[in-house]
Amino acid sequence: MRFDQPAGTNPIDRMKVVGQPIDRIDGPLKVCGVAPYAYERHDVVPNQAYGFILGSAIAKGRIRSFDLADAKSAPGVIAIVTHENAGKLGKPKAITANLMGGPEVEHFDQAIAIVVAETFEQARAAAKLIRVDYARAQGQFDLRAAIPSAKPVSDSSGEGSASPGRIEIGDFDAAFARAPVKVDVEYTTPDESHAMMEPQATIAAWDGDELTLWTSNQMINWAVRDVSQALLIPREKVRVISPYVGGGFGSKLWIRSDVVMAALGARAAKRPVKVALTRQQVFNNTTHRPATVQRLRIAANKDGRIVAIGHESTSGDLPGGGPETATSQTRLLYAGANRMVEMKLAVLDLPEANAMRAPGEAPGMMALEAAVDELAEELGMDPVEFRVLNDTQVDPEHPERRFSERNLIGCLRQGAERFGWAKRNPKPGQVRDGRWLVGMGVAAAFRNNLTMRSGARVAVDGRGIVTISTDMTDIGTGSYTVIAQTAAEMMGVPVSQVVVRLGDSTFPVSSGSGGQWGGNSATAGVYAACAKLRDQVAAKLGFNATDVEFADGQVRSGGRSVPLTDVGEMSAEDTLTYGDLGKKQQQSTFGAHFVEAGVDALTGEIRVRRMLAVCAAGRILNPKTARSQVIGAMTMGVGATLMEEAVVDTRFGCFINHDLAEYHVPVHADIPHQEVIFLDEADPQSSPMKAKGVGELGLCGVGAAVANAVYNACGVRVREYPITVEKII
Ligand code: MOS
Repeated sequence: MRFDQPAGTNPIDRMKVVGQPIDRIDGPLKVCGVAPYAYERHDVVPNQAYGFILGSAIAKGRIRSFDLADAKSAPGVIAIVTHENAGKLGKPKAITANLMGGPEVEHFDQAIAIVVAETFEQARAAAKLIRVDYARAQGQFDLRAAIPSAKPVSDSSGEGSASPGRIEIGDFDAAFARAPVKVDVEYTTPDESHAMMEPQATIAAWDGDELTLWTSNQMINWAVRDVSQALLIPREKVRVISPYVGGGFGSKLWIRSDVVMAALGARAAKRPVKVALTRQQVFNNTTHRPATVQRLRIAANKDGRIVAIGHESTSGDLPGGGPETATSQTRLLYAGANRMVEMKLAVLDLPEANAMRAPGEAPGMMALEAAVDELAEELGMDPVEFRVLNDTQVDPEHPERRFSERNLIGCLRQGAERFGWAKRNPKPGQVRDGRWLVGMGVAAAFRNNLTMRSGARVAVDGRGIVTISTDMTDIGTGSYTVIAQTAAEMMGVPVSQVVVRLGDSTFPVSSGSGGQWGGNSATAGVYAACAKLRDQVAAKLGFNATDVEFADGQVRSGGRSVPLTDVGEMSAEDTLTYGDLGKKQQQSTFGAHFVEAGVDALTGEIRVRRMLAVCAAGRILNPKTARSQVIGAMTMGVGATLMEEAVVDTRFGCFINHDLAEYHVPVHADIPHQEVIFLDEADPQSSPMKAKGVGELGLCGVGAAVANAVYNACGVRVREYPITVEKII
């Protein structure tokens, strides 16, 4: 099914099941520990051996030689694979660093060997006995030092729309120079680690030349492609299975070394091999969100209207890598005739930089929305009113393109009302509650809405059960649940009669989970398959396909009613593809974040006290799972603002606080009551579901709202994230 005109009425619009706050159907499995993660699949194939990956001790250079003698004779060792005996390997186009290094080393902790042994402990112990003779080379690990060599780049990530490196509209420099009120500020954001619960892990099993991988992955079809490119084997010989994923946040959009090394280890050992990365390896062996240095120049007339807005961002990556697209929201969020954005990329020899939840907008909004707060203060304007005044209903770079739906103003207004914004004292440092200085902050939320082609198969079995099969993943987001709701609505059965099977490359190719496109796109694919099956059922029953209704387990048309069970076994498969509808109109998601923060007047300790997000993001398929997405994102935003920083050791080129004891993320005690409001919206341009993404929207802007609240509380404006105590006092 092709989607290239606004969706008219369809069965989803009944909203009997879709739109209901149904509990996650995988919830009990998750909390009881019976939803197996990749490493726990002890039962899927017998005789599993354990692999342990050895990472490079240098960040850049060459391996001169390995001494494997001690490791080979260590207890339990079955096989050791290095570049010397791995055979010819390819390089997946989508992945920057080689997943197995050697003889060249590209980054610290790059996988250079796998030891396969009877037990995990034996594999790990033997890996420590491998002696490596390195020729260490000079690397560049310091983003600041690399800035002079940074080059303008376009965004060519696998995440979505490409955008050129430097874009200018009007005459930014002249307008900025002339304007009476302006800010020119630099914000920095640090490197961040995904810190998902489940590390990358894989069980690899060969059957002749056929490879099966039980792994933890967001994008099954990309994984098949990349395994095929890495191991130089045909795609048809690769099966990827990932029904449950313990968090991804972008770290599992692409395969990592666990997949390739487990496959190589299994080939050498002639046995299935299981590998899990350690948390330390997650930090330095995989990917991270790269640090940014961002300069914001925003100028307004005295009436508060923006006349010039400029945003430059520099990040670093390995040779051939991509930038953190931190300027993208600045192209679309506010009006203003004179505009300039520029992204620059420096070559750094740190581990591979890549997507982490809301890549680009998450750190970009932390800078933009704090700078906007600074300009509103310069103007003596309320920051909510300033944002309302500078709203735009068209793409500022292409005024002929409207937003399909845009209710930023509604989010700001309703949020201000619900949060008690009127009580805010605009002068910082004025409000006290005992030892706490208390402040309020606001920020807009913005994230683009991407749609991805997505397929599914639907089957009815003559006994009332509807089964959906698709290679879509559920990374904790609720995919199982919203897919079941979609199928139930379309086929007229209760959710309890829908079986959802996900995460297997033998199923139709879906959108996968990424870029907050999964909920809308994957359900749209299920819609397409169900629409096809409905037509087939109608034809079989001799019903008119245009007036047939599926409800209450019945198929009805023209006064006749037939139980769905009477049609017997039938199935249909379809893929929803998108025409250029999304190119004619700009599709984005909007919100407003409100935060109350306390700063201890003596110690500088920061505590978030209240949080509210108001979101306008199309139809909400399930308010409970959507709310969970948003409060999870708000929590992640508190971490990014107040705690998270992967500290670079610029001598050795590694992240030195490489575990969750030293890389801090929020715990429950750090997070206060959170409220989420969804504005009533349906976007007929986005898909037949009329939904959009919310999974990343909740993260975009929340950090600036925290920072703005901290400033309002204590009067200290920290422009170097994270905002930690020593920067306050
Ligand atoms: Mo997200 S960073 O697209 O998983």
